[in-house]
Amino acid sequence: MEIDAVIRQMTLEEKASLCSGMDFWHTKEVERLGIPSEMLCDGPNGLRKQEDKADHMGINESIQAVCFPTASAVAASFDRKLAGKIGKTLGRECQAEGVSMLLGPGVNIKRSPLCGRNFEYYSEDPYQSSEMAAAYIKGLQSMEVGACIKHFSANNQETRRQSGDSVMDERTLHEIYLASFEQAVKEGKPAGVMCSYNRVNGTFASENKELLTDILRARWGYDGIVVTDWGAVKDRVKGLGAGLDLEMPGGDGSRANDMRIVKAVRDGILPESTLDETVRHILQFIDKYRPGRHPEAVFDREEDYQTALEAAKECGVLLKNECGLLPLAQGTKAAFIGGFIESPRIQGSGSSYIHSARIPSILDCIQGMENVSYAKGFDVASDETDEAALAEAVELAGKCEVAVIFAGLPGRSEAEGADRLHLELPPNQNRLIVAIKAVQPRTIVVLSNGAPVTMPWAAQIPAILEMYLAGDGSSEAAMSLLYGKTNPSGKLAETFPLCLEDTPSFLNFPGEKGRAEYHEGVFVGYRYYDKKKMDVLFPFGHGLSYTTFRYTGCVLSEDHIRDTDRVTVSVTVENTGKRAGKEVVQLYTGQCGSTIRRPVRELKGFEKIELQPGSKKTIQFTLDKSAFAYYETAIHDWYVESGHYEISIGSSSRDIRCKTQLYIEASQPLPIEVSAETSIGDLLGHPKTAAAMQKIFGNLLGKAADEADSGSSSMGEGAGNLMQGAMEMPIGALESFGVLTREQLDTFLDSLRS
Ligand code: BGC
Repeated sequence: MEIDAVIRQMTLEEKASLCSGMDFWHTKEVERLGIPSEMLCDGPNGLRKQEDKADHMGINESIQAVCFPTASAVAASFDRKLAGKIGKTLGRECQAEGVSMLLGPGVNIKRSPLCGRNFEYYSEDPYQSSEMAAAYIKGLQSMEVGACIKHFSANNQETRRQSGDSVMDERTLHEIYLASFEQAVKEGKPAGVMCSYNRVNGTFASENKELLTDILRARWGYDGIVVTDWGAVKDRVKGLGAGLDLEMPGGDGSRANDMRIVKAVRDGILPESTLDETVRHILQFIDKYRPGRHPEAVFDREEDYQTALEAAKECGVLLKNECGLLPLAQGTKAAFIGGFIESPRIQGSGSSYIHSARIPSILDCIQGMENVSYAKGFDVASDETDEAALAEAVELAGKCEVAVIFAGLPGRSEAEGADRLHLELPPNQNRLIVAIKAVQPRTIVVLSNGAPVTMPWAAQIPAILEMYLAGDGSSEAAMSLLYGKTNPSGKLAETFPLCLEDTPSFLNFPGEKGRAEYHEGVFVGYRYYDKKKMDVLFPFGHGLSYTTFRYTGCVLSEDHIRDTDRVTVSVTVENTGKRAGKEVVQLYTGQCGSTIRRPVRELKGFEKIELQPGSKKTIQFTLDKSAFAYYETAIHDWYVESGHYEISIGSSSRDIRCKTQLYIEASQPLPIEVSAETSIGDLLGHPKTAAAMQKIFGNLLGKAADEADSGSSSMGEGAGNLMQGAMEMPIGALESFGVLTREQLDTFLDSLRS
């Protein structure tokens, strides 16, 4: 399509009308100019294509499809290739079904485990989240189907999601909440970015120029379309001016907004060139991502089920396994207990809800298995204990060699549109777990939930397998992991806290009167628990295997670099157990003695490797500035302070196996603002002002420092503290102490500024 030529031929009305959809799921066609209508569909963990009645809450039917593990499960795989494969498979499905854009991935940060949509998001860590998202986007778009990363931005709760205000400081916004999008946008280059419903620091995301234009386009170089979340438009003209391209859903509801755009251009409120730019983005999308480019593509539900199953096996996280209770040997006399055995929980509710073609249950899987018996034990639909069912399950467990309980969150407690109120499993399930354990010490709990739950029984239960919401293949994957056909390799991409009260945002989630203040700042997830040296139930990055790994090395290519250089770190990992297995090798960095409040460690690299027993592999991580920087508000950019940095490599954030240190030199000092309020210490410490300060005050300060050191000072034993006080004193105070006159001070400050 000759896009500029097409725009030149369009009337103002045609341009404005292209800025909203034709209906719930389609862009508008302009027949006269050969502009086709394109279909957008929900994902991200499957294709939710609605051919009949449309909605955005997962209420009406969509075509039969395949449900892949949801994002929180995929994140636990820590496997970029897997995320890419899921994306590519979905891309093929979209091509076969005539869909141009799949609405995903969702990369909002898990600020609180209570967020009702956490199952749709990857991680509490922005690096992990953006890496997984970039891989998914690349996979999907390799089939010439657009991805639409969402929900931009700071949409970390469902409470008042359409109107709430997410209030936070600039550093937190960039370092945590935008960072989850930044790399995914830069590297994955998604066709679409979906703006969220909420306000960010007072301005709706859909009309937030700073987010949609200054950051997204100008700083990150984004050139795709910005789509509204469904119904997120407030002031359409303001939104368009801020960088919002396509309003969805279209149809009757958006017609008035199209007319507002026309009027705004006619009235001179909106430059036509801005509208042209929006139209250009939409046409570029229509031109580039089009179904029919892969006529060979078929939606083979059976084949894709197998992909979903393989994916599910990678996602399961073995949280605990005392005395090698797992894997189970075939033929073990086992009591399988729990309502989820008949009705597996495989996904969350809402707009991502997939109408699965086939969902094998655990009950299907154990058909014909010798020595495996089943008792329901509890009803998934209820919180109340069914005494008869409980008694039956306890009796069965007592008669077997092991009990395997399938527990988890019921669908009603994890859904789009509402946050969870607590972290507990239903009381009937907790009670059952304790009762079974009382008669059967060899009890295993298998969990299905999209986000952390508390486990008051964790210390007593020897084995726990977290399956998350692993899609259609959930049951077969769980069986494969339990019986050791697959060696577990998932790791938590979020912390499981001991209790809700421990969580970083506890006092401020979901906020009050529609205002959520992010007082915990950058200390989200493990950044908070580590800084506060708190115990957690299971830490970020944790996950066991049926084999063991030894780490050696942690060797740097250099131990002194400038912030513009790269450094490589290599580590050797050996499978020291008896089974083949996969390990997620995690690299964290932390600054030793920073002047800025920073997390103890931050994930900056991970690699999933497969090793046969006895074999080893050396992995190299290449780190650049982004692995060490924090967001510095004085320059509105990422910055690395000169100093020592620690690099730790391990099997989880709290199972560090080797460490090393390097020195990084900042190539630019931070600017210093010189005024009478600037402290003497800051002026002495800054390369721009240090020499002049030394010249004037060197003698005086040197003498005081010597006296403080030798204890000979007339100031007594606290001389050192007084010295620190002097360093923190604003230079202007020297006038009050008669050291300098006002005129001398002003002249001196002028000389420091020049
Ligand atoms: C959700 C989006 C979804 C859209 C379309 C909205 O309510 O927030 O994630 O893509 O509906 O269904």
